[in-house]
Amino acid sequence: MLESNKTTYGIIGNPVEHSLSPLMHNAAFAELGVDATYELFPLEESELKGFFGDLRKDSSPIFGLNVTVPYKEAVIEYLDSLAPFAQKAGAVNTIVITDKRKLVGYNTDGPGFLAHLVELDYNLQDKNITILGAGGSTRAILASLCIIPDQPLSIKVYNRTTSRMDDLLQDLKERIDVSRVESVMSIDDLDIRSADLLINTTSVGMNEDDPVLIEEDLLHPGMLVYDIIYNPAETQLLKMAKNQGAMAANGLGMLFYQGVLALEHWAETRLEDHIKVVMRKSLEEAIQS
Ligand code: ATR
Repeated sequence: MLESNKTTYGIIGNPVEHSLSPLMHNAAFAELGVDATYELFPLEESELKGFFGDLRKDSSPIFGLNVTVPYKEAVIEYLDSLAPFAQKAGAVNTIVITDKRKLVGYNTDGPGFLAHLVELDYNLQDKNITILGAGGSTRAILASLCIIPDQPLSIKVYNRTTSRMDDLLQDLKERIDVSRVESVMSIDDLDIRSADLLINTTSVGMNEDDPVLIEEDLLHPGMLVYDIIYNPAETQLLKMAKNQGAMAANGLGMLFYQGVLALEHWAETRLEDHIKVVMRKSLEEAIQS
């Protein structure tokens, strides 16, 4: 697919202007030497139907898409089929458009998160996991944690808006086993002191003057604090984690791996290491600058 005439890929969402995906994928296309481009497609909800209608036309140059907030669930009704994990998670971040203009939905956010943990050499088996947040990113992370063979011991989730968390769990429960997941009513109930892994999936920390949701002295050596925020590269939460001797990781790795997996779906092949190197470098340079 990537070797054919000039093809277009891109990301739909609202907003999409700050997305780093064009950098990462255009760097990959250049390294691959293919005549392809990755573009931003900012869309209003009312434009989705028409956009997906156009995608089915033989004249469309688009052969692959990423989907970001707020459409990861909304796009499902426009697709022909879902890969197993996208079906389980109930969310799509990657769409493959086949030569026959069939639309297949994938979710590489969850697998991207897990791939980053593998890179960090972090094994989830029998771990006590705590999650802050119940937004768009939580769904894929939580679904992936519920289906991996190396099952964590427990997963506690806290969200400011309890009903949002309950709705998420209720929805996931229809397709996957969420029996290890407990939703808690306050941050204190997360029992962070005995947690092995704390994942921040909230947007708190994106701004320098954001409050930190948890007390620093709850963090401890031996735990991994994972913040899905990657800009700034080191949030206050990650600074606190380091102060307390905990391991700290930001979400740049998850962003990278979800992109690698998306491109592998579009290209229908595994990417060679030199392609991944330029993709990662493009992200790291963007965050540093
Ligand atoms: P994303 O798709 O990136 O996860 P989102 O769907 O807007 O973004 O979710 C943002 C998350 O950050 C939510 O869990 C949100 O909590 P609510 O559901 O209560 O809104 C959480 N969040 C944002 N600001 C917060 C704050 N000041 N305190 C606590 N949680 C916050």
